[in-house]
Amino acid sequence: MSQGICLEKLPLDLEQERLPNHVAVIMDGNGRWAKNKGLPRIAGHRRGASALKELLRCCKDWGIQVLTAYAFSTENWGRPAGEVDFLMSLFEGKLRQELREMVDEDVQIQFIGNLQALPKSLQAEIERSVVATEHNRGIRFRVATNYGGRQEIVQACRAIATQVQQGKLQPEEIDEVLFKRYLYTADVCDPDLLIRTSGEMRLSNFLLWQMAYSEIYITETLWPDFDRSEFHRALSDYQQRSRRFGKV
Ligand code: FPP
Repeated sequence: MSQGICLEKLPLDLEQERLPNHVAVIMDGNGRWAKNKGLPRIAGHRRGASALKELLRCCKDWGIQVLTAYAFSTENWGRPAGEVDFLMSLFEGKLRQELREMVDEDVQIQFIGNLQALPKSLQAEIERSVVATEHNRGIRFRVATNYGGRQEIVQACRAIATQVQQGKLQPEEIDEVLFKRYLYTADVCDPDLLIRTSGEMRLSNFLLWQMAYSEIYITETLWPDFDRSEFHRALSDYQQRSRRFGKV
């Protein structure tokens, strides 16, 4: 409950048929949230993970088909080793802890990014959760981990070039539809809405190809405080936009 409105079901002022199919989130501000409370940064990440779980549940309750969350970028390795280690073990622990519930709640989880560079024990947990939920269709949940948009585009180019080199593909056959098939997101529609918390106005190398026409919503709220009422506000704002995709 928030502001006296029941937010378990889709709020009445939102139109079901005009909801975004795919929502992407840049979960920024965990460190500042913790600092404001005199807590270590890792406390912010822990609360951030709870906020993400709540958003996933909300997306499912309200009928959104795909949620993609930016959990760890290719640039995040540059953080202090203790914080990186904490994040890796947080991802692994959460996966282990939440798997049963994701299976029961019909969540299909997948990870996008260069997963080979992640700790082996995290890779094993990722594999287990992906296999256990692969037939679920309630909501598709994508976690971008060691993800970088430029890296994704470069690896797609390399894979396409290899196909051309082997004579399996002609350069003339390369178009946007084919290119999409080489991206991590080949099986989902592009994000309709990107939400970024903590007031920063950057894409930070997230889904660069896929967000060519995404609507962007920025809120000053720090990620651990992003709740259903905040998401409600983001969707209300989105439903007021007129999406023209370059047309008039
Ligand atoms: C950015 O805030 C946040 C991150 C780099 C980590 C995001 C990870 C989570 C919210 C946990 C997700 C959990 C699972 C299981 C996927 P920041 O640290 O840059 O904050 P600051 O800008 O205030 O310092």
